[in-house]
Formats: sequence, structure tokens, C-alpha cells
Amino acid sequence: MNLIKSNKTLAAEIKNIDLSEDLNKDQIEFIQKAWDENLVLIFKNQELNDLQLIKFSKYFGNLDLPAPNPYGINFSPDHPEINVISNVKEKGKPIGILGDGEATWHADMTYNEIPPKGAILYSLEVPKDQGDTHFSNMIEAYEDMPGSLIEKIKDKLLIHDASHNSAGQLRKGFEENIDPSLTPGAKHPIIFKDPSTQKKSLFLGRRPHAYIVGMTIDESDKLLNELWAHATQKKYTFTHRWQNNEVLMWKNLFVLHKRDSFNSNTRRVMHRTQISGDLRIS
Ligand SMILES: [Fe+2]
Repeated sequence: MNLIKSNKTLAAEIKNIDLSEDLNKDQIEFIQKAWDENLVLIFKNQELNDLQLIKFSKYFGNLDLPAPNPYGINFSPDHPEINVISNVKEKGKPIGILGDGEATWHADMTYNEIPPKGAILYSLEVPKDQGDTHFSNMIEAYEDMPGSLIEKIKDKLLIHDASHNSAGQLRKGFEENIDPSLTPGAKHPIIFKDPSTQKKSLFLGRRPHAYIVGMTIDESDKLLNELWAHATQKKYTFTHRWQNNEVLMWKNLFVLHKRDSFNSNTRRVMHRTQISGDLRIS
């Protein structure tokens, strides 16, 4: 195996490994270490079926079931651990979530008390040169933060919205709510400290419907806007342009991600797993 780092503060490609095969202890340790250090890993030219994707994912932890989607449909009944991300419709019905629009900056399922620590996304079919995924390094963003801003968020809790997905669609079973202080979802510290590495990261979840506990809504919005402007600066971000048959894994507690929109006449089909977290962050 070879590791090729990107020219940004996160992301690396691992070459010369076939993820459809059984991996040995050394290979798993190599990938885990590279993942810990680079936060986002890319494996190109991989041919995986759902069972092989699940098996590969389980080398890194147990798997969470996907979040409830707006349609109330299980898109992968044979393998419920798999989330289908797609704009494709068959017989007028969607085969997956998120459509073809932009998905704004977010981390996955952070409205849970124990959010997934990682996600693994496999591209079965993607449009050429569209629908890029961007990642932002929240360890770097924290380390680079002005002391005055750190002072403002020390010991503060943030509500992470459970009611909308990253495309802004209301999930099944939730109602629209205009008061962010009443947003349903877990309350997590804005500064997350990883107990195993002692590294700190800026833990923002997603901007819409977020609220910093104990502040007025105006104060909370103002500070959140300041934090998001800091966290999504280009210097912390890496962009991945997809090809078919790529596996991409990211550390959900240490990076934000977002997806560009793409042409609605094209097809994009991805399968994703969510690796369960080990710790209650709140
Ligand atoms: Fe996501």
C-alpha cells in the first residue's frame, strides 16, 4: 500500500489495495493510522457490492442505521445499514436521498447523543465533473482560532438539528419550527476534545436551525455566523471530484462536508455506511 497526501491539511489517497478482499491486521492498522492522521481517505478503482462495503466498514467499528429520511422509505431493505444517496427515480419514486441540489456544510447525524465517528461513501455511478464533495478540517480550524473567539465558545453547548437533512428537507416525523432555541436534537459542546488523542476540534454540526444554549437568538446567530465563516475558510478545505468506483471515508467528528449541486438530467448513485461512535459527546 502507498499513501499519497493531498496538498491541503487533510485527505490522502491509499493506492495498491483491493477493498473487496479480506484485509489482514497490518492492512487494517495501516488504514486506521492513515485515517486518524489525514481525516479523509480515498481509494480509487474499487469494485464493491453492498456486502463487501459493509464488511470493509466493520473493520473500523459497528454500524449505525441511516437517519430517518423525508420519504419514510427504507432504500436498502436487504442491507439496512446501507444509506442510498441518489437523485435517480425509478417508476417515479426516488431510490435514495438528497436529490440533485446542494447539500450545505454539515457533519452526519450529530443530532444523536452518540454521533457516528465516521462515514464511508462508495460511488457506483456519478456524473462527470459535477457534484464535488468538499471537506473542512475542524482540528485545524480550532487550532487556528483567535483566542477571543475560543473564549466566547468555551463551555458552551450547541443544539444540533434533528429535524432536517443536509439538503434542508424535513425528515419524516418532524414539524417545521421557527424558534431555533426549540430545535429538536442533541446538545453538544462546541469544542470537542477527543479523549484518546486529547486533540480538540470545532464541533458545529450544521448551521440551519442551530442554537447556542443560554444566549439570545440574535447573539447565538451572530456568534454562529462568525464560527461558520471561520470554519469554512478555503485554507482548511479539500475538494474531491468523483469518479465511479471510489471509496471515500471521513472522520465525522473532525471534519465538515458539503456537496455541490449537479445537473438533474444526470445520474448519481452512492451507497454509504455510518460507523458508530464510541462516546457520548454531550
Ligand atoms: Fe453528509
